[in-house]
Amino acid sequence: MKRLLVVLIVLMVSAALFAGGQQGSSGAAAGGGATLIGLAMPETHVERWVKDGSTLKAQAESKGYRAEVAYADADQAKQNQQIGSFLTQGARLLVVGQVNDGVASAVADAAKDGVAVIAYDRIIQNSADYDYYITFNNFKVGQFQGQGLEQGLNLKAATAANPKYITFFAGSPTDGNAFFFFDGAMDILNPYIKSGVLKVVGPYPETSKDTANFQRIATENWSAPIAKARMENLLAGDARDVTLDAVLAPNDTLARAIIEALRADAKYADKLPIVCGQDAEAASIASIRDGGQYVTVFKDTGKLAEAAIILADAILKGQTPSIPGAVLASDIGLSSIGDTGKKTVKAYLLEPVMITRDNYKVPIDAGFYTAQEKSTYNF
Ligand code: BGC
Repeated sequence: MKRLLVVLIVLMVSAALFAGGQQGSSGAAAGGGATLIGLAMPETHVERWVKDGSTLKAQAESKGYRAEVAYADADQAKQNQQIGSFLTQGARLLVVGQVNDGVASAVADAAKDGVAVIAYDRIIQNSADYDYYITFNNFKVGQFQGQGLEQGLNLKAATAANPKYITFFAGSPTDGNAFFFFDGAMDILNPYIKSGVLKVVGPYPETSKDTANFQRIATENWSAPIAKARMENLLAGDARDVTLDAVLAPNDTLARAIIEALRADAKYADKLPIVCGQDAEAASIASIRDGGQYVTVFKDTGKLAEAAIILADAILKGQTPSIPGAVLASDIGLSSIGDTGKKTVKAYLLEPVMITRDNYKVPIDAGFYTAQEKSTYNF
């Protein structure tokens, strides 16, 4: 009798768990049987991705999904293995921040299994095997970098008789975003170069289409040591006989590495050039507040992660996504942002914000930093 009771209880508990699992597959409940979303992030040496990964996971779980994050250490072979493992575990959707084009084969495997892929922040090029991309307006990010430099250098009032000197850095040549950032910045800066008000020290790609010169200023895998070494070389070479007034740096991690190299040069001990970045990393916001770095671009990646999971949920439920705060690139004449080279995917864009000393509190007030960051930097 006692035994029968135990068997009955076990059966009832299993039935309840099974029901939970069934619910989970429509995204309604977390737990062992819930639908799995795989979150493949490119790297951890640029700190935003750690936040992206944890926010994506929390957002997916809050909608009743199971979610796992993997970081690829800027190694595409490693990321492809991680994606393979998500597929083996039965993931139904993948959110992928790629390292480089080599991701296309893993995306093709996902498509063969009927698994949807969302390109996250970085477009997946040379692939026709996915339909959605979610990111910020990256051309505008670059324009804000250019406008920050324009403002910091007071270019509107500068003259060709007393020109300003600038040198250029770009992001990783394997990351499509790096091209948009650079072209956005050059959209603002080129007219000043043409009029002789701004002089370029070192290589000058007028746009990212000048591949040879773009490669010279690009920073493989967004590596800070590479950018620092290149800045040191410039200081000892092309920039030896001038005083730089500005450096176009593509993100905060690289901006701070470049500033480190500049600070080690006696010429810049009292006055740093105007340096831009992006990502509103805590250390850069503190530097902007304290008069070091001049400008950054705040991309609220918490909002990006939330939007990506709203999109994922709609795809998994076969619904039409409605994403607060995002616009479809095709609705604002920017459908080329979704061009993979093999098809044009639906690209959703969020808005970036330019940050200088005047409004450095914006990301702090938006709750962008952890308690640890706030106490480290006294925010
Ligand atoms: C992202 C930036 C980031 C960079 C390096 C880009 O694709 O858009 O936010 O700083 O990668 O990780």
